[in-house]
Amino acid sequence: MPATILVGGFFGDEGKGKIVAYLSKHDSPEIVARGGVGPNAGHTIVIEGKKYGLRMVPSGFVCESARLYIGAGVLVDPGVLREEIRSLKLQGRVGVDRRCSIIEAEHIEADRKDRHLSDKIGSTGTGCGYANAARVLRKARQAKDVKELEELQLLCDVPQEINDALDREKGVLIEGTQGFGISLLYGTYPFVTSKDTTASQMALDVGIGPTRVDDVIVVFKSFPTRVGEGPFDTQMTEEKANELHIEEYGTVTGRKRRIGEWDGKMAAYSAMINGATMIALSGLDRLDPACRGAKEYDELSKTVKEFVAKVEHDTRVPVKLISTGPEISEIVDLRDEE
Ligand code: GTP
Ligand code: IMP
Ligand code: MG
Repeated sequence: MPATILVGGFFGDEGKGKIVAYLSKHDSPEIVARGGVGPNAGHTIVIEGKKYGLRMVPSGFVCESARLYIGAGVLVDPGVLREEIRSLKLQGRVGVDRRCSIIEAEHIEADRKDRHLSDKIGSTGTGCGYANAARVLRKARQAKDVKELEELQLLCDVPQEINDALDREKGVLIEGTQGFGISLLYGTYPFVTSKDTTASQMALDVGIGPTRVDDVIVVFKSFPTRVGEGPFDTQMTEEKANELHIEEYGTVTGRKRRIGEWDGKMAAYSAMINGATMIALSGLDRLDPACRGAKEYDELSKTVKEFVAKVEHDTRVPVKLISTGPEISEIVDLRDEE
């Protein structure tokens, strides 16, 4: 491991939650820390048939020994966080940086009422845009100002915890949210989220400098999806998606996701700006349903192997993780092979 950042290479929902859960279970990092915008993200994890939808807590919760942190760059909705900690029984394992900005009820209301955001951009209505605006205007409350977070003993200094763990040569996994195409800086502006979404931003969000990052894993799905408005160069017709039996709905909003073909040009550009050292591919069972659940490279079909080779050719980055289904165990891990 030591310091590994994982980010989305397309428009979000690439399956980061599943990959982070697998890596956490397999590598047992001391810390899993979340960067990214806030509870506009929704990670879905399936373990032994049980489905979890997470918006605030890192997907690394599946590794029982891991400490779970929320970095200072992330927006916190105290109600959403409290409920996740309660329902997943994570008391004592979660830390929130004192400097996280808080999403207030008025931010959510304003987000939902704002016709530009809700209709033109297709915002998730979770208050993130208004909360980030309040932070920039220096009107936001911070986590340290919220009594409930203090009472729940969640407040801490995330950069200190992470840098100390790295000094002790412990594994730290940094979980990004959203995806490259909806980055405020590099995405399809104005059809983007309210912050950058690349690996450099994730390092900043949790408080590690660029020289401390060992690996950047960029996750791509075999058929990219986009939820909300904005350009999508390789989008396919609904008929074609139906023929391929691909149908996805947003974890947070329940909206139907638009489905597209592999976009090699976007993948290459995204891998470049993220500084990818390896790629994780998801949804290979969609390319060839016979590969569902495969755990070994040799179990993959010619179609899937050729697709993996194409991704490596397009991006010039090795594909090291190949997800063959939503369950965290459904994955081919090539990291130890040369
Ligand atoms: P954001 O942080 O919101 O960008 O989400 P995410 O990247 O964690 O992805 P999300 O869980 O929202 O969406 C991915 C969907 O694909 C979920 O429903 C997963 O259960 C599912 N999924 C993940 N990997 C695979 C895979 O290899 N095959 C199939 N069929 N589904 C997968
Ligand atoms: P906002 O971040 O809620 O303001 O939404 C802005 C745009 O980003 C909309 O098109 C959303 O659909 C999209 N978006 C925000 N978060 C996610 C995510 O986690 N996955 C996919 N799309 C997202
Ligand atoms: Mg999602």
